[in-house]
Amino acid sequence: MRTTGEQPGQEPASPDDLLTLGEVIARTGVAASALRFYESKGLIFAERNEGNQRLYRRHMLRRISLILVAKRLGIHLADVAGIFVTLPTDRAPSHEDWERVSRSWKQDLEHRRRYVENLEHQLIGCIGCGCLSMRACGLLNPDDDLGKRGPGPVRLDEASR
Ligand code: FES
Repeated sequence: MRTTGEQPGQEPASPDDLLTLGEVIARTGVAASALRFYESKGLIFAERNEGNQRLYRRHMLRRISLILVAKRLGIHLADVAGIFVTLPTDRAPSHEDWERVSRSWKQDLEHRRRYVENLEHQLIGCIGCGCLSMRACGLLNPDDDLGKRGPGPVRLDEASR
């Protein structure tokens, strides 16, 4: 079992090579604290050597890359965890895995884009209005959600609890 990063003149890297924490940090730019956090959330996995040092299979770099992409896309870590349970843990995600994940995240982006467009549309209706009415303003009280929670100053009641 090799515990080395790729270096000139060495045999080709294997996905099962073990990388030290420092090597993973150097390759990904991710801080040790973040790696430990991802590990605690079950997003990546480490093994321990006799000295109790963390060692990561090289194929974990792909998972870390996916986490970084998800972060850039604004995907919540809980959603990343949800899709990661469908990925293999004993090898790097395949091309098909990545295609499935990226399709799912594209859908997520589309939902968020539609949500922001809807907010923008409502905001346009508020420009120049200024009523900030609990009944009339869709931004303040979308779909009259407050009305469904009963009469009176619902938000003040909730804040005092
Ligand atoms: S401020 Fe009047 S509708 Fe939003």
